[in-house]
Amino acid sequence: MTDIERVGVVGGGLMGSGIAEVSARAGKDVIVVESSAAAVEAARGRLESSLKRAESRGKIDSAQAVLERIRVVDDIEQLADRDIVIEAIVEDEKAKTELFRRLDEVVTSPEAILASNTSSIPIMKLAVATKRPSHVLGVHFFNPVPVLKLVELVPSLMTDDATTERARAFVQDDLGKNAIDCQDRAGFVVNALLIPFILSAIRMFESGFASAEDIDSGLVLGAAHPQGPLALADLIGLDTTKAVAESLYEEFKEPLYAAPPLLQRMVEAGLLGRKTGRGFYTYS
Ligand code: NAI
Repeated sequence: MTDIERVGVVGGGLMGSGIAEVSARAGKDVIVVESSAAAVEAARGRLESSLKRAESRGKIDSAQAVLERIRVVDDIEQLADRDIVIEAIVEDEKAKTELFRRLDEVVTSPEAILASNTSSIPIMKLAVATKRPSHVLGVHFFNPVPVLKLVELVPSLMTDDATTERARAFVQDDLGKNAIDCQDRAGFVVNALLIPFILSAIRMFESGFASAEDIDSGLVLGAAHPQGPLALADLIGLDTTKAVAESLYEEFKEPLYAAPPLLQRMVEAGLLGRKTGRGFYTYS
């Protein structure tokens, strides 16, 4: 166990509620900050249903006992005493830099770690919004957080080694995840490889080369992938897939990262995958 006991999470959406859940399941005292009273209620609902599911599957003894370690609030000042704060708000650079500026004012311990779960925004941009860039790094979890084992650790040029090592100990020893080290480049390791693969599958489908079902079956049955790239895009969300592709393209200017027109049109149409009931497939 590390000396990190008090965990703060900003944003209680899909990822933030998952990060809060795994932290509380590891015995930490957790505060989640949301942006409004309605969002506080929504985050509480997400945590309750996920923990009840974990309880019914025998993964935890008592959902109630874990929930008692989590407070969901709409007041950022309650994060003052935290040992680590993990930001998981919308993927918007302006919103995140403003939040890091605010966290720097609010969190009192100079040893506290300010981490971001961003998928594509340079950590350096968040670090320089604070007066403590040596204590800022990326700690990138995967969806669904309670299930997937990987965390990418992303120090910026300014992060000190002690911060990275404390964050590593927290995710590995306390949360039971596996950490890999990545440079502060858009996409880190996993998305830099996964997104162009998904984009290639979309281009293949768009050109009429093969059906969505056959592309996905090809990868499942021929390459032992757990699901095909188009089903995976539907799961990630086509808006998120497009946003990450655009960040990668912006950073590297390589055609393989350019979002194909079909992906653009589907996002404009609101066909975002599972979350809206229709993407490359239809969901009931
Ligand atoms: P989401 O939209 O489900 O959740 C974002 C939450 O942040 C919302 O509940 C919103 O009310 C809240 N929020 C927005 N501004 C806020 C503020 N100023 N203060 C407090 N709360 C605020 O988004 P999701 O999918 O959880 O993504 C969050 C972050 O995690 C993004 O940076 C995303 O790139 C990253 N990420 C997402 C993954 C995914 O598969 N969805 C995977 C890994 C990282």
